[in-house]
Amino acid sequence: EKNGYDHFMLKEIYEQPEVIKDTFRGRLLADQGLIRMAGIEDNIDKFLNAKRIIIAACGTSWHAALVAEYVIEEFARIPVEVEYASEFRYRNPIIDSSDVLIAISQSGETADTLAAIKLAKEKGAFVFGVCNVVGSSISRETHAGAYTHAGPEIGVASTKAFTTQITVLTLIALRLAKAKGTLPNSEYLKYLHELELVPERVEEALTQNDEIYKISEVYKDSTNCLYLGRGYNYPVALEGALKLKEISYIHAEGYPAAEMKHGPIALIDEHMPVIVIAPSQDHYDKVVSNIQEIKARNGKIIAVVTKGDKQVRELADHVIEVPGISEALTPILTTIPLQLLSYHIAVLRECNVDQPRNLAKSVTVE
Ligand code: M6R
Repeated sequence: EKNGYDHFMLKEIYEQPEVIKDTFRGRLLADQGLIRMAGIEDNIDKFLNAKRIIIAACGTSWHAALVAEYVIEEFARIPVEVEYASEFRYRNPIIDSSDVLIAISQSGETADTLAAIKLAKEKGAFVFGVCNVVGSSISRETHAGAYTHAGPEIGVASTKAFTTQITVLTLIALRLAKAKGTLPNSEYLKYLHELELVPERVEEALTQNDEIYKISEVYKDSTNCLYLGRGYNYPVALEGALKLKEISYIHAEGYPAAEMKHGPIALIDEHMPVIVIAPSQDHYDKVVSNIQEIKARNGKIIAVVTKGDKQVRELADHVIEVPGISEALTPILTTIPLQLLSYHIAVLRECNVDQPRNLAKSVTVE
């Protein structure tokens, strides 16, 4: 069932171009300028009248929620708050019928997320689920929802579930933007056509595997790692760090790049690899100066850059290229090399990649 791959995780990483297509199927109709998702269409008023959207999730799904916060606010101009389900449920949150709660969960069984849903429902909010497992508890407990069509995810470390969550949430953001008229139509159409290209661009990102393997050999014995990203790629930095900790047991932290000087910079020396997500977009120059600051302290820089990048290449110890795309869509691409990097490092350290110690695929107890 591993289809010739050594591990489920690797198989699932390589399935991403296909499952993203599955997630688009019947929903993204770029030529007609349409996004069609029954769960949204049937409840469009709930979203349009919402004072704000609260997104509750755990772990990797929480990282997808952070990406969603950026895309929904940017495209649809609806205020979004992202909550750890475990915190939300226990702090008597202020939420009522003018709010929409989106719960994100691969398994659809996470205890804290389920409890957050129940609480939001009690308080009168409309609750929408983004789940992967069909018929799961969360998909049954929510008022409506949209499935990610990632197929079964066996590896405990979430990979294809994350990128398909971002895919669904981006579709939702664009659908709401269309309904609200918050994006010029030309922009909206541009995003639809660009989304169609995402599967092949993910495929292209995967071709960096050999390069990433070589980098993994250099850093496999590291004891710490720092991941930095800005804007849409700040959640990607968090996700990259989580992936590395989970399967290789290397201590890793993700930070918004600009926060580096507020603390983490003290950690940087010649033993500290810093993975910087630096696509050629809005924050490029600022991230380049972060890279200079790291270099000045002898930190080792592994940069994820846009294909053809020159400036970062001159400064970084290693670069991994991803194809160019609009900034809002970069997380789906920049995540790919970070998944492969954690995978190879974990395999080189002889860790049990698919079933890391102390972790369960679905966390059904709080
Ligand atoms: O099934 P869920 O998406 O609700 O799971 C949430 C987290 O437990 C999960 O993402 C966890 O962090 C993964 N091991 C990440 O790789």
